[in-house]
Amino acid sequence: MQKAIGVLTSGGDAPGMNAAVRAVTRAAIRKGYRVIGIQRGYNGLLNGECEELSVRDVSDIIQRGGTILYTARCKEFKEEEYIKKAADKCKSLNMEGLVVIGGDGSFRGAADLSRIGGIRCIGLPGTIDNDIQCTDYTIGYDTAMNTALQMIDKIRDTAQSHDRCSVVEVMGRNAGWIALNVAMASGAIACLVPEKPCDIKTVADKINKAHETAKEHFIVVVAEGFGDSAAITKQIEEYTGIESRLTVLGHVQRGGMPTVRDRVAASQMGYHAVDLIDRGATNRVVGMMEGKIIDVDIQEALAMKKPFDDELYRVCNEITF
Ligand code: ADP
Ligand code: F6P
Repeated sequence: MQKAIGVLTSGGDAPGMNAAVRAVTRAAIRKGYRVIGIQRGYNGLLNGECEELSVRDVSDIIQRGGTILYTARCKEFKEEEYIKKAADKCKSLNMEGLVVIGGDGSFRGAADLSRIGGIRCIGLPGTIDNDIQCTDYTIGYDTAMNTALQMIDKIRDTAQSHDRCSVVEVMGRNAGWIALNVAMASGAIACLVPEKPCDIKTVADKINKAHETAKEHFIVVVAEGFGDSAAITKQIEEYTGIESRLTVLGHVQRGGMPTVRDRVAASQMGYHAVDLIDRGATNRVVGMMEGKIIDVDIQEALAMKKPFDDELYRVCNEITF
């Protein structure tokens, strides 16, 4: 029976996941494998939602957000009996390897599937948060930042019209990468990220100082992992006397047409994942370091720490008045 390579998307979806699925499918077929698309993350292995993918099945998806394989969280995957059941399904499909597109949690599932079920897994970093430690870049990050920036530029118009302070909460789970970059790019007067504790009074003092030099409207970007953005908005209004309004961007950051950067990175990573399986590698996470596609051992990847960009944070703060 012809060997197969499986591919699934897991955890929070991200723009560019479809580009990765397309690259995995086409690279694998080019190398003589069948490709099995598994739907709704690991659930698809447990529920049998597995369909062969042809080169045509992944036509016209590179420009689409979301994931044609759907995604989901699979609570059963923390129990050994279900991991064994998933492994049996992979073996019944004559799977040479499985490409898992997701975040850290999905990689933990892949590591268990390999350790308990003997399935060779390759992880691709698919999350808008850019919070995966072994890579400078995760699929979806650039698109999410550009979406958030477009929204903040619109919010700036109304903040200016009303002489208001607009507090904008962005996604990122427990990371501040999206917040830091869009704060810099939007000219926000303050950026609140979980990596850098900050007293709201300090932010208010900076706003008051700018207000004294005729600055009449303000943008404050808050990463969702920093704290309660509604309370922060109220505190800013109380400390400054400036009308303040909160906008929580939410899931709009998860959708939309992927940017060039996400389409290209996803395609490169998907190709690399298939090459790794074809060369007999296992339990690797594909990433990007200094612009180059790399791969690291999955356990090492999960143990790595990615330093926050203190320099960018410092510059962002020092060039706003
Ligand atoms: P992400 O991959 O974006 O971090 P989650 O943390 O929700 O998303 O994980 C996605 C899925 O990966 C979970 O629904 C579960 O099926 C699996 N998973 C997460 N953590 C583990 C774990 N520690 N062991 C086994 N499977 C896990
Ligand atoms: O991990 C991606 C992400 O969008 C986070 O930034 C956010 O906190 C989380 O997913 C939201 O999860 P859900 O889509 O399950 O509400």
